[in-house]
Formats: sequence, structure tokens, C-alpha cells
Amino acid sequence: MKRKSLNIQYKEYSNTNDLPEEYKLLAQKAKEAVKTSYSPYSEFAVGAALLLENGEFILGSNQENGAYPSGLCAERVALFCAGTTYPNVPVDAMAIAASYKGVAVAEPIAPCGACRQVMIETQNIGKRPYKVIMIGANKTVVVDNVSFLLPFTFSDISNAVK
Ligand code: THU
Repeated sequence: MKRKSLNIQYKEYSNTNDLPEEYKLLAQKAKEAVKTSYSPYSEFAVGAALLLENGEFILGSNQENGAYPSGLCAERVALFCAGTTYPNVPVDAMAIAASYKGVAVAEPIAPCGACRQVMIETQNIGKRPYKVIMIGANKTVVVDNVSFLLPFTFSDISNAVK
């Protein structure tokens, strides 16, 4: 038996104005996307913004449904939109923001497990790591690689049976 450990790195910023210049607009777009959320059931509004390697922005927000499981998280709305609009263009960064009952959340919003699975697939398709910027009113957390959010990733069946 060997004991092993994984180490993840992340950066913490006190607010989005302190982010590197090239990601300030992306953070702003995520906050704007929150306003497009359709979330009458949870009143938890989430916005996701993607910056693609071609310089384009893609936005998504959570879209709920009276049949609860039919709704979709903001992150996957954005990622699937990017896959449809610009297939095979790598993602450079994703920013996520949220509000509850109209008030911006204090702590950074971290993507759910299902979204992380889709995020890693997008990263694999793009063949390069991308940043995830998780925005809260108190602080903003940045990881440089989706893998940091999903260790021991399931990627595809051929990998699993190697
Ligand atoms: N939600 C997202 O859109 N992204 C996340 O990362 C977490 C959760 C949505 C799903 C649902 O519409 C609402 O937030 C409450 O869970």
C-alpha cells in the first residue's frame, strides 16, 4: 500500500477588480448572465460566461423547469452553447457568478459535480487547460485547470479499460 496525495493550487482575489485585466470583462459577463436566469423555483440565479480562444464570449444561465430535473445549470447551458456555436474552439476561461433572491452570493459559487464532468470533457476536447473563475462578493477564487476541480476523472470508456 502506498499513501498518496493530490495537491490543488488556486488563487484568491478579494474582488473581481483585482483579476488579471484579460478576465475582468469575463467576470462582468458572468454577473450580467445572472440576470438572464430563469429560476422561479430555487430563486438561486447563476450566470456563467466563457471566453473562447477565438476571443468570443458565450453566456449561460440556469434554466429551471416545473419538472425539476428537466432544468439545466448555467455552466452546462454555456458549455453546450459554445460546443454548438463554435465546435472545437478551445475554452480559455469560464467565470461563474450567482445571486440568491436578488442578492449576490457572499462566497464563490462552485460548479456542481455534473457540470464539472462536462467541463472536463470540454477541456479534453480543447486539448488545453482552462481557468475557472468562481465569483463571490467576499472573494473570487481561480483555478487554472478544470482537473483541480475534478480529480480521479472519468473521461471515457477506452481509458477505463486500458
Ligand atoms: N445551479 C447552477 O446553475 N450552477 C451551479 O453551479 C449550481 C446550481 C443551479 C441549478 C438550480 O437551478 C439552482 O442553481 C439551485 O440549485
